Amino acid sequence: MPYHVYGRSHLFAALPRIIPLSIAQTPETFSRLRCIACGATPDSAGRDFRCTACGDLVEFFFPGWTSGPDAFKPAALDPAALKSLWLNRRTSRNALDQSGVWRFRELLPHIPQEHAITLGEGNTPLYQLPRCARITGLDNLYAKHQGMNPTASFKDTGMTLAASAAHRDGFRWVACASTGNTSASMAAYASRGNMHSLVLIPEGKISWGKLSQSLDYGALTCQLRTDFDGCVRILNDLVRQKPVCLLNSVNPYRIEGQKTAAIELLEQLAWEPPDHIIVPGGNLGNSSALGKALLEMRELKLISRLPKLSIIQAQGANPFYRSVREFGGTKLEPMTAETQATAIRIGNPASWKKALRVLQATGGEVEEVTEAEIATAKAEIGADGIGCEPASAVTLAGLKKLLQRGFVKPAETVVLILTGHVLKDPDFTIKFHRGELFRGTQHENDAAQTMPLQRAPMVLDADLGAVVAALDSVEARNS
Ligand code: F0G
Repeated sequence: MPYHVYGRSHLFAALPRIIPLSIAQTPETFSRLRCIACGATPDSAGRDFRCTACGDLVEFFFPGWTSGPDAFKPAALDPAALKSLWLNRRTSRNALDQSGVWRFRELLPHIPQEHAITLGEGNTPLYQLPRCARITGLDNLYAKHQGMNPTASFKDTGMTLAASAAHRDGFRWVACASTGNTSASMAAYASRGNMHSLVLIPEGKISWGKLSQSLDYGALTCQLRTDFDGCVRILNDLVRQKPVCLLNSVNPYRIEGQKTAAIELLEQLAWEPPDHIIVPGGNLGNSSALGKALLEMRELKLISRLPKLSIIQAQGANPFYRSVREFGGTKLEPMTAETQATAIRIGNPASWKKALRVLQATGGEVEEVTEAEIATAKAEIGADGIGCEPASAVTLAGLKKLLQRGFVKPAETVVLILTGHVLKDPDFTIKFHRGELFRGTQHENDAAQTMPLQRAPMVLDADLGAVVAALDSVEARNS
């Protein structure tokens, strides 16, 4: 048995008695696939996870929640019982119970435990952001930091489930197109599951930190001379020819795993929903996943009201913003994307229809933010002692705009979803603080507004006097 696998005997031996096992044992019929456009319910998905009838995306739904075997009717999913079951698992020494994803497995498609690949993902902190709250004039501002996952981005929560499903299905190879975080995560989980991984990334358009991760975790890494959208096109053709499992967020297992961040967030807030959740939008899988979780939690009466989920894009990579604002969500026009927040440099987001549904169901908004606004927000989150990668900082920048428009009110509770760790893209941070971020770009004129936040490193002689003088000059400036 591979080392990553937790066999049944080990699993149950480690479970404390307080956990009612009957809830945890879900049959494979519990979840079904459904096309988001034509409603077809195929028994299995094609290699590209698209509906064979109409070509749109498929998603999981759970017929057992409203019909099906008695054991899986809502009575078995009693909200109070689920909440205490999930809380009790936090004290379990079993690896699946310790995962912040598998801990919530009652709301996920069933995957036999012997195929589970886990790195202890999820369980990410919910921080208060006191300085950012002061800047924005909010009373209650939180950050759910998904960058505190094993490979330092939110991708791990979806990848643990999708990689496990690929393992169950007997794939030797998994593959993705990526702006860097999906590839890092996939490479790690594939290795843990003794599978090979193929990474397609846009050459020169992803951060070194992310590229180095996929190399270290053992992926076959191909830097293609194109952008992310070009990588997706090649990958879609490849999976039709070769027996590789596609692990981009069109894979519905990814969405299911990523749902757990919202469940965990609500648990951290004692099941009292915040007024707003704000999330960056790239390929739009994450907003779709978090929104799906909110809707399902309300359906199961785990929460009584829905937070508004708003999606923020970089101005240079804003196809979803334009779809909603210009076309009322009736169509999405792909674009050539350009932003230094490379994680969300995406012009043709696959999951835009799922995200639109979430926006409409929760009453959320969509916003766009400039490069200077992103850089400023990132430094402000950093100054709260938290830090995040540029794509995550669009949330704070977007929040400021939503406050200006009166969509968010100062007395409301807001949670920003920070999607990646500050160390994912140190180049951006260093260039920002040295005042070099916008040099030679079309945003050079905006650079001035970011200057007050810049803290360039000082190169000094190894001399006490020089260090004291530096200290005194900063003190004088601050007083
Ligand atoms: N934030 C970060 C740090 C990301 O890496 C991504 C997406 C997003 C936000 C946007 O999330 O695509 O679900 O809307 N990164 C993908 C990747 C595309 O390949 O790593 P989304």
